[in-house]
Amino acid sequence: ARVLVLNGPNLNLLGTREPGIYGALTLADLEQRCRQHGAALGLQVECFQSNHEGALIDQIHAWGALHRQGQALGVVFNPGAYTHTSIALHDAIKGVEPLPVIEVHISNVHARESFRHHSWIAPVAAGSIIGFGPDGYLMALEALARRAAGLGT
Ligand code: DQA
Repeated sequence: ARVLVLNGPNLNLLGTREPGIYGALTLADLEQRCRQHGAALGLQVECFQSNHEGALIDQIHAWGALHRQGQALGVVFNPGAYTHTSIALHDAIKGVEPLPVIEVHISNVHARESFRHHSWIAPVAAGSIIGFGPDGYLMALEALARRAAGLGT
């Protein structure tokens, strides 16, 4: 089953960007881990990163259509700072229901500045995994695999 790991703005800088907060792993390393972990779960993981809000919206629409056709399981999404600003991403996810989108944040946004405490994505996400570093993406893949297997209900 196909799954998209979608990363938003500035996540292409992983590895060199505030390593005290986001760690030393690069985006390429992270995506490789996702593909490997996904494969072990029987998932075919595809990866996309963009610094552009509209490009992220286009991906959500495309994967919403795939899901509707029974060709995709869901999306693991770290929207970066758009989490805290983007009604357009909120509407995009809402617009392709019931595509499951799992929100992931590497850092514990609730332990940081107050402007990171609100998420426009959380109310339209299947769930959110926050503060577990890069492992959060793997946990989100497990959540999608468990859902697909009919577990967790
Ligand atoms: C982030 C948290 C956001 O507040 C921040 O703007 C990011 C990364 C995280 O993964 O911890 O770019 O989504």
